[in-house]
Amino acid sequence: MISEKMTDALNGQINKEMYSAYLYMSMSAHCTNVGLDGFANWFMVQYQEEMFHAMKLYDYINDQGEKVVLEAIEQPPTDFGTTLEMFEATLEHEQFITKSINDLVYLATEERDYATQIFLQWYVTEQIEEEGNDNEIIAKLKLIGDDGNGLFTIDRELAARVYTPPAEE
Ligand code: FEO
Repeated sequence: MISEKMTDALNGQINKEMYSAYLYMSMSAHCTNVGLDGFANWFMVQYQEEMFHAMKLYDYINDQGEKVVLEAIEQPPTDFGTTLEMFEATLEHEQFITKSINDLVYLATEERDYATQIFLQWYVTEQIEEEGNDNEIIAKLKLIGDDGNGLFTIDRELAARVYTPPAEE
């Protein structure tokens, strides 16, 4: 059993994760459109990760006997500037998600909702990885600057990313 307030907040997080999926899908489409297929692949894998994040919340609300309520998903941008600007926007978005997860943990703590606190730990850890991935790519993009060959190399690296669903603990 979880409170109505907690259920509403978790439903809100489903929407944020779905928006994240939508945002990264839009970034992937943009990258494909400008010929950066490796970047496009990286963002499409990210899209799949976000769908997993949303579905994990979906299952948790159902398991708790509460009702999943889906809200409208906002339209994401369609133009993203340079690859560096795109990853800076990605990091900024992930920092927003981290804050949102922290707010959920705060609420669960306030409500002495231990089950949700434990459930949310997975997201706390996941966000470290999410921000870490973005920081790593931003550092590389800053390093290459305007070098087209460097961009080509990073594009090839990002083409190798494969989606692996996290093991259920
Ligand atoms: Fe679901 Fe990228 O946070």
